[in-house]
Amino acid sequence: MSFTQRQEALVNSSWEAFNQNLPFYSVLFYTFILEKTPAAKNMFSFLKDFNEVIQGNPSANAHAEMVFGMVRDAAIQLQVKGEVVLEDNVLGVVHTQKGVADRHFVVVKEALLETMKEVVGDKWSEEFSVAWETAYDELAYAIKKTMI
Ligand code: HEM
Repeated sequence: MSFTQRQEALVNSSWEAFNQNLPFYSVLFYTFILEKTPAAKNMFSFLKDFNEVIQGNPSANAHAEMVFGMVRDAAIQLQVKGEVVLEDNVLGVVHTQKGVADRHFVVVKEALLETMKEVVGDKWSEEFSVAWETAYDELAYAIKKTMI
């Protein structure tokens, strides 16, 4: 897998913009997920008891931060060593327990790309999209390998 320095820089710079306004983009991210798959609400401990995606929910923010942060980390790994390696299989176990399936990974990818499109604004391009999508796909693949 070849991932260029330019792609890594695109992911990195836009991830920083995302992270600077995490509470706002976190709400957007879950809103996009739930628009596509309302039933996912019951999967998340921090969403199931609320009628709307509540801004300022620390658990929701923390999870969004981890997802986007791990995709950014995957971009760095891809650029440096051409593959994404997870430290352990904890994520495989957690997502298996939560009943996460392939179609959920697709929904989360779409929501992540839609969120990043908002973050980047006018400068969003096919190049940005491909860079984020590639890093996400490789990370999702690494997680799925550890799911049983
Ligand atoms: C939990 C990352 C995809 C649903 C987590 C955790 C991390 C994480 C780091 C916390 C694990 C822990 O407790 O130690 C990711 C990444 C993803 C991804 C990097 C994609 C590349 C998904 C998808 C779904 C999902 C597709 C389903 C829609 C969940 C749920 C939890 C969780 C329900 C438990 C959160 C809670 O209720 O407290 N994920 N995840 N994740 N993830 Fe994901």
